[in-house]
Order: sequence, then structure tokens, then C-alpha cells
Amino acid sequence: MESQETPIDKVAMQHARVLSGMRPTGQLHLGHYYGVLKNWVELQHEYSCFFFVADWHALTTHYEDPTIIPPSVHEMVIDWLAAGVNPKEATIFVQSRVPEHAELHLLLSMITPLGWLERVPSYKDQQDKLKEKDLSTYGFLGYPLLQSADILLYRAGLVPVGEDQVAHVELTREVARRFNHLYGREPDFEAKAEQAIKKMGKKNARLYQRYRKGWQESGEEEGLAAARALIEGQQNITVADKDRLLGYLEGGGKVILPEPQPLLTRASKMPGLDGQKMSKSYGNTISLRADPDTLATQLRKMPTDPARVRRTDPGDPANCPVWQFHAVYSDDKIQNWVREGCTSAGIGCIECKQPVIDAVLEELRPIQERVREFEEQPDVVSNIINEGCEHARDEARETLDEVRHVMSLDLA
Ligand code: TRP
Ligand code: SF4
Repeated sequence: MESQETPIDKVAMQHARVLSGMRPTGQLHLGHYYGVLKNWVELQHEYSCFFFVADWHALTTHYEDPTIIPPSVHEMVIDWLAAGVNPKEATIFVQSRVPEHAELHLLLSMITPLGWLERVPSYKDQQDKLKEKDLSTYGFLGYPLLQSADILLYRAGLVPVGEDQVAHVELTREVARRFNHLYGREPDFEAKAEQAIKKMGKKNARLYQRYRKGWQESGEEEGLAAARALIEGQQNITVADKDRLLGYLEGGGKVILPEPQPLLTRASKMPGLDGQKMSKSYGNTISLRADPDTLATQLRKMPTDPARVRRTDPGDPANCPVWQFHAVYSDDKIQNWVREGCTSAGIGCIECKQPVIDAVLEELRPIQERVREFEEQPDVVSNIINEGCEHARDEARETLDEVRHVMSLDLA
């Protein structure tokens, strides 16, 4: 996939599960479409994907006015579907409908040093940026750990995120490591691992042993990857046994919560209406649901090269936000026409904008059509969400059963 730097070789096949979330705090725009959704749509073909609406995360910054959250949840799911996220391929769910997120967050909070949270860069950054909000709350400090719980609950190996979220995945890795270190040591671990090896059958058991030896004695990475794939491919052994085999492979204890990798999304090229990155906080967005007239007007009003005061003044596309839209939407022929026409004052700016307006409208038309279809069938959307939540919850329960067990919480 060209838009990814895939560190898949670094994670076990078992971890080829992808998880990502989005906060429901308003309308989605073209920046989300280019920066996130197109990427999700690609990923869903290749991995087992879990995409969720992070409504509890939204509360950490919108606790004073939570009423915008529920309508945004529904709208957001519709926008995902309209953009091509397919509920047959990906699990779509809502965080607060899977209360296991909260339980795992609580349990992880017991082992997470305060300093780890205070050091997450977004903590201070966001407080500075969102001055109008009082973010000196417990929930806001803890939200990266809630994100860790989101990820670890599904034992996701890959987390597609932007640059600003990489520190959160890093925190997740540290928390997982600490958790495994504290609780991953069953008293009879080695014996159980040896039993699990036998359950793979003779041939696979021999392969596993060979890979394990190669890794532990000579650091053979290919063998490590192959052994992980081998473990993943086993149909007849339990998740717990797979975890034991993974842990035994690397010489540690049982890996209960695998460490995820960030899957860095290449920075979205989508500029905003003023040429800066498209973002709600800059007020320069094009909503996925913008009606065509509004959209055309917005684009016609876009600033251009400030040197082109009069129609007869030549300009330079490099200094013009409209050019960045051409870079995304226009083919070579149109781009040449723009470059020539602009630098020679051969075309006017309104003329230059027309192909961009056409292309954006063209791109949004089918999305908006699907939005309308889903809006007309609220039951279909509810069903998709219900089924997704149910599936997510089953997976979440499995992890929590094990977490409770190793934390001595299943005695009742
Ligand atoms: N914190 C992310 C954001 O603000 C959203 C999010 C919550 C998320 N939980 C996640 C993303 C887990 C990836 C994985 O954009
Ligand atoms: Fe920008 Fe096009 Fe006008 Fe040149 S002609 S300044 S590229 S809008």
C-alpha cells in the first residue's frame, strides 16, 4: 500500500489487527477524508480492522456541552459508510457501548506512573491550545491511557494515526510492557508453554523449536517472524496458549497485551481553504456534507497569490493556495494550463478555480448520495452499529477475562 510505511514485519501476524478511532465532535471534512478515511478503506481489505467512535474521548474535552456528541456519533458513522468503510470487512462500533474499555482503563491506571501521562506532549499542548476550556481534569490527563486501553483491549498490532498521536502509541507500548512484566509470569509458565507446543502437532512443534532456538541463540529475525506466523496459523489452540507460545518464543513470560506499532499515515496533502492544513481549528474546512452551491462559493472566495492584485498582474502558483488544490485534483494537462496561464496573466483566478470546483463537486457527489441513502434508512445504520458493538464486545471480553485472571480478579 503506497500510503503506508508498514512495520508489519515487526509485529506478529497475530497482531495484524488494526484499530483506530475518531472523536465525534463535529462534521467530517475533506481533511478527514484524505487523511484518515481513504486509508481505512484500503486497510480494511488487508487486515482485520476495528474502527470506533471515540465518544468517551470526546467527553474529555467537551464535558461541559456533551449534547453535540450523540448526533455526531450517528452522523460520523454514516460519513464513514458513505466514504467506503464496509461493515462486512471492518468492525464499526461505539466506544461507550463496550464498557470493557472503561474497565481496562481503570485496571491499567493502577500500574501507570503519573509521570508517563504528564510527559505525553499533547497534555500540555492541548491545554495551551484550548485555553477556553478547563482541561485540568483527571479525565483529560488520563485520556492517552484510555486510548491505550482502546488499543490493548483488541490486542491490535497496528494503529493508524497521524504524527500527533504517535506518542500515545508509544505510551501504550510502555504500559503493555509493564503489564506483561508484572502479570505475565504464571508460576508454571514453562510447563504450560511446552504443553502448548505439543498441541501444535509434531511437525509444527519441531519447526517452532527450531525457530525459537535460532532466534534465542543467534538472533535470527526471519525465524522470529516465521514462528509468529506459525503460531497465528494454528486453528486448534486457544488464545491463551498462543500467548504462551509467543512469550516463550522470545524468552519472556506470557505476552498478555501485545505491544502495538503506529502505522503512520502519510501527512494528508489536503490543504484548507486558506492553504494551511485543513483543520476545524483554523476554520478552513470543506465539509463532506457541504451543499454544492456553498462549496462553489467557498472555493470562489479562496485567497490567491497576493501578487495578483489586478487581472493583468502575473502570478506564481507556488504562492497560491488554489495551486495546492490543483496538485491534489488536476492532471498534468490542467496543471500546465494553470502554470502557464498564471505566470503570463493569461487566465483569471476565477477561471483557474473552475476545474478545482468541478473536481471537488465530482468527488463529493457520490459520497453525499450515499449519505442521503443512509440518512433515509436509520435502521440500517443502527443495525450496523449494533452488530459492530456486539462483535467488538465479544473480542473485548476475551481480553478482559485474561486480564482479570492474571490480576487475581476472577476469584468470585
Ligand atoms: N485520540 C484519537 C484522536 O484524538 C482518537 C482515538 C481514541 C484513537 N482512541 C484511539 C486513535 C485508539 C487510534 C487508536 O484522534
Ligand atoms: Fe492562483 Fe490560479 Fe490565480 Fe494563479 S491563476 S494566482 S494559481 S488562482
